[in-house]
This record gives sequence, C-alpha cells and structure tokens, in this order.
Amino acid sequence: MFSQKIPKNYRCPLCQQVLSFSDKNFRCSNNHNFDQAKEGYVNLLPVQHKHSKDPGDNKAMVNARRAFLDKGFYQPLIEQLLALYQQYADSNSAILDAGCGEGYYTHQHKTITNQVYGVDIAKNAVRIASKRYKDCHFSVGTLSNLPFEDNFFTWIYSIYAPILEDEFSRVLKKAGYLVTVTPAENHLFELKSLIYRYAKKHDISKNPIQGLTLITEKHISYTMKFEQTDDLINLLAMTPFTFKSSESLLAELKSKINFTCQADFLIRVYQK
Ligand SMILES: C[S@@+](CC[C@H](N)C(=O)[O-])C[C@H]1O[C@@H](n2cnc3c(N)ncnc32)[C@H](O)[C@@H]1O
Ligand SMILES: [Zn+2]
Repeated sequence: MFSQKIPKNYRCPLCQQVLSFSDKNFRCSNNHNFDQAKEGYVNLLPVQHKHSKDPGDNKAMVNARRAFLDKGFYQPLIEQLLALYQQYADSNSAILDAGCGEGYYTHQHKTITNQVYGVDIAKNAVRIASKRYKDCHFSVGTLSNLPFEDNFFTWIYSIYAPILEDEFSRVLKKAGYLVTVTPAENHLFELKSLIYRYAKKHDISKNPIQGLTLITEKHISYTMKFEQTDDLINLLAMTPFTFKSSESLLAELKSKINFTCQADFLIRVYQK
C-alpha cells in the first residue's frame, strides 16, 4: 500500500544522483543510502551539511506553531492559497512546501493533488508533520541544496521561510509557480507594540526574487481575537519575537484577555 506513494524524484544530497527506493531505504548509484524513518519521512540532510546540532526551528517553536495554527487563526490565508492554486495550477500537479515546518499548510492540498511534498531542515518539525499527515511526502533537507531532481514541481510554497531563488527555480518546471507568503505592513503590530517601544511596520518594498516573473500580489488582512491567553503565548513562541521574551512580558501577555491583533499577509505569485 505504501509503495504506491513512494516518490521517484528525490536526489542524493551528496552526489545529486537519483535515489531509488527499496526495503525502506533510499539509495543512489554511488551507494549513498538514507533510511526511511518509521513515521515515513526520509532524512536527506547529511551531517556535513548541518551547521548546528539541531538546525531550523526548535521544538518549542514548532509545538507552539502547531497549537496556534490548529486553532484556525490563519485559515483565511489557507483559503486564499487554495484559491490561487485552483486558479493557476492544473489539478494533480506536484507541490513542494519549502520550509514546511510541522506540515499545516502542506497537507491542505491533499484534497486536490496527491503529489504533495514538504521539506524542512528541522527534524523535529518534519517528524511530527510526517506522523500526522501520512499522505504527504516529507523529508529533512536544506533549501540551499534541495533533495529533488530538476524541473519536477509545478507549485512551490515559501511560507514565512527563507527564499532561495536559485534552488526553487531549479526544481520548478518550466512555467511553474512560486508562491511566497511574507508579513505585510501591519502583521502582528499590536503584539510587536507590547515588545518594542517603537514598533515598526514591516517593509514590503523589497522583492526578493530577481529571475522569475511576478504575476500577482494579494494582501490578506483581518483582525484576530485571542480569548485565551495561551493563544497569545503560542503566537509569541512561534515567532522570532520569542527571543525577546522576558518574565515581565510573559506576565503581561498572560494578563491580556480578549486581545486583538492584526494578521496581515502578503502573497506573491511568480512564474518561471
Ligand atoms: C517561520 S517557520 C514557517 C514554517 C511553515 N512554513 C509555517 O508557516 O507554518 C520557518 C521554517 O523554515 C525552516 N528553515 C529555516 N531555514 C531552513 C533551511 N535552510 N532549509 C530548510 N528549512 C529551513 C525552519 O526550520 C522553519 O520550520
Ligand atoms: Zn549519492
């Protein structure tokens, strides 16, 4: 049953040859091999490509993001992403969620395509993604050397994750799409105002992509209301603001009841 879902387009992160699968093991013609984990993902991040022991988001950030996203606070973003996919991509085209975290956005597309891949450098995140979302193909890997063959994906997401244009371009098919989601001006402004004396709005004037063609831009803006203080604490813990958190900030956040905060996303769709 599982063999029907084995992806054929992974490439070896050491020698770039195609990986074939048998007996729960991915192997290239040079005999580099990578075991499939019991949860179903494959770790394609060789030790020599790691710059720290546990690269990527740490366990606390990953768990906080899952708890927050599970409450549906970013549902309007999902709806817009699915609508864009339906507008531009042929159904059943291969999707990559690049920097997929714990798989929340990755798995949403299982309803419309059966070729959904997620890659992230954080093993913790990929492990829980793979455990929950059995129908997607997850791997541990780095965006700077994606473990996929050239010209495979029709649709790539980069959602609040590093954008590495050259690698995204390499694995995108001709005329394929890259969708980036980044914070727009007012994203989480009220939370930032609790942290910084002079909170700044996000600067959205820079376009990080040079070689692909920008075909559309959308803003998704709405107000979130947090009735439970856990939601606000999780929101803090899943963002880089967590590194600014102090005992007094946490105490202040815990005292906030019915706190409202802007969600403000910028979605850009590019084509190869
Ligand atoms: C802010 S999180 C967003 C996760 C997910 N896209 C979401 O929105 O829920 C950024 C993710 O990028 C991953 N990441 C950072 N640098 C990476 C790299 N070089 N290669 C692969 N993933 C990376 C982190 O581990 C983290 O899971
Ligand atoms: Zn190899």
